[in-house]
Amino acid sequence: MLFNPIKIKETEFKNRAVMPPMCMYSANELGFANDFHMIHYGTRALGGVGLIIQEATAVDPDGRITVNDLGIWSDEHVKGLKHIVDVMHANGSVAGIQINHAGRKAKVDHPIGPSAITYGGDYKMPKEMTVKDIKDVVKAFKEAARRADEAGYDVLEIHGAHGYLIFEFLSPLSNQRKDQYKDGKVFLREVMEAVSSVWPKEKILALRVSSYEYIEGGVTPESISEAINYVKDLGLDLIDVSSGGNVLVKIKAFPGYQLDLAKQVKELTGLPVIGGGLITELTLASNAIGSKQCDMVYFGRVLLRDPYLFINHASDLGYEIKYPEPYIRGKK
Ligand SMILES: Cc1cc2nc3c(=O)[nH]c(=O)nc-3n(C[C@H](O)[C@H](O)[C@H](O)COP(=O)(O)O)c2cc1C
Repeated sequence: MLFNPIKIKETEFKNRAVMPPMCMYSANELGFANDFHMIHYGTRALGGVGLIIQEATAVDPDGRITVNDLGIWSDEHVKGLKHIVDVMHANGSVAGIQINHAGRKAKVDHPIGPSAITYGGDYKMPKEMTVKDIKDVVKAFKEAARRADEAGYDVLEIHGAHGYLIFEFLSPLSNQRKDQYKDGKVFLREVMEAVSSVWPKEKILALRVSSYEYIEGGVTPESISEAINYVKDLGLDLIDVSSGGNVLVKIKAFPGYQLDLAKQVKELTGLPVIGGGLITELTLASNAIGSKQCDMVYFGRVLLRDPYLFINHASDLGYEIKYPEPYIRGKK
């Protein structure tokens, strides 16, 4: 199943293997892409990944996880990002980008969040956002979405996971506001409304969520699916299911540990989902799709160490996928 194509709207994915967003912290302090990004994403495209979702890219300099995040907060960023898109396309992948504001987890002098509650560790106490701060961030997401379209991305993923700003609003553990935003869905909807007003209808709009927090009082697949259902009329096409990241708890991870969460979100929302987590075996991924736990599978860390996983191992599942022509003499 992993190597069967899938079509969402007008976009054809040659297979269901996804490289999930993974921050490389390798941009310069102005957030510009460089040769590393071209090589990094180009290599995974050459390795046969159907959909590459570029790392969390900051919509605002104050929403960066680190000063070396990629940025999309100014029109000057578009040229470098377009180069990444062209490299992904030229080597056969569908090009996605994740856009993010890191909220209270931004390593900046004055982080902001829904409430003045710290993440802990050496993270600073965030300032509780005013309504103006909220509207400014919503506008930053909108501008970022417009630039992502200009750069040529096919898939826009809004980062609503891992304890960054949107998720901070969604989790009762980090949102204790008293105003209209005490229900985090309201903020998510404003972001989605702004983004979908500029993101072309024919392109794919995705949302990454943490669907479980492994601690009492945190979000659950049910509550997260309710939030998704509240915004899905805004043109949401795909959900990328992850977990955790908003509180310091230890997660017992094992191969496929988030697939059950993906299945629950898929069933409760009726939307296609990308599932994954510690998956290195192609058979496990294929079975997850076959048993309808998810529609696509992400392979994160394994692709950092083995960009050619798919072209080298598809044949183990009986599939012949296109091997890069110049490399054929090295084929196993
Ligand atoms: C180096 C690194 C950077 C990551 N950066 C992001 C990110 O930018 N956005 C995001 O949603 N998840 C991020 N993640 C999480 C991955 O997308 C993925 O969900 C996680 O690694 C689990 O999948 P895996 O076990 O296949 O690696 C990152 C993970 C790693 C290892």
